[in-house]
Amino acid sequence: MEAEGLTKYFDGVAAVEDVSFVIRRKEIFGLLGPNGAGKTTTIRMLSTVLAPDAGDVCVGGHSVIREGDEVRKRIGICPQELALYPELSAVDNLVFFGRMAGLSGHEAKARARAVLVGVGLEARGSEVVKKYSGGMQRRVNIGIALMNRPELLFLDEPTVGIDPQSRNHIFETVLALRAEGTTVLYTTHYMEEADRLCDRIGVMDRGRIVAVGTPAELKRQVGDPDRTTLEEVFLHLTGRSLRD
Ligand SMILES: Nc1ncnc2c1ncn2[C@@H]1O[C@H](COP(=O)(O)OP(=O)(O)OP(=O)(O)O)[C@@H](O)[C@H]1O
Ligand SMILES: [Mg+2]
Repeated sequence: MEAEGLTKYFDGVAAVEDVSFVIRRKEIFGLLGPNGAGKTTTIRMLSTVLAPDAGDVCVGGHSVIREGDEVRKRIGICPQELALYPELSAVDNLVFFGRMAGLSGHEAKARARAVLVGVGLEARGSEVVKKYSGGMQRRVNIGIALMNRPELLFLDEPTVGIDPQSRNHIFETVLALRAEGTTVLYTTHYMEEADRLCDRIGVMDRGRIVAVGTPAELKRQVGDPDRTTLEEVFLHLTGRSLRD
């Protein structure tokens, strides 16, 4: 994925300004930044949900502006806010969204079973989703994003406000996806999480990407990579601290 000069204004104020970066095939790329930095607005433009005011994005060589359908075939989106049907079971949610993505009934059912195993919910797949914990609901939402076997998966703050068990399941799911060759864009404001999970990180602040690199490369700009945290990197780059 290549983003070039992405810009979005809301009410005359730039939420995202001249953002350019590349996500390589099969990497976990973290977009790290505080509340309001522009992470979600960026993801929305990368995933064809929101049209940029300037700039363009290519996913697998296809422009989000001119070839939205081609892009949507290749991506999965797990939005920051849960998007599922609370009255339906996990299986029925997955099958429904799989059918929306163009799978046949048979394909959707088979894929739903595999996805449930992948997110660690196979034992409770027939329960209605409203009875699940927040973390389990989040895992169903990740499962929905996986129904069309995306090459590129967008996860927008997948671990905010959830229990440690679900958090670990999500880490395992993301690592397993990378091992299978899926590219992942992961936004978070948890620095330890980005440090542990991401191959490369883009640090975002006030609508701009202020640095891109591996965690070790970013830390080396500040000091000894073994003894520097991403919090210190953020402080160094922006003059401000990154708070949860
Ligand atoms: N639909 C909208 N209308 C007006 N302003 C918006 C809209 N969406 C985002 N903004 C503004 O754009 C800026 C960036 O918001 P965005 O949601 O992209 O940040 P974020 O990094 O995802 O933050 P968070 O960590 O809180 O999710 C913020 O100032 C926000 O208030
Ligand atoms: Mg956001």
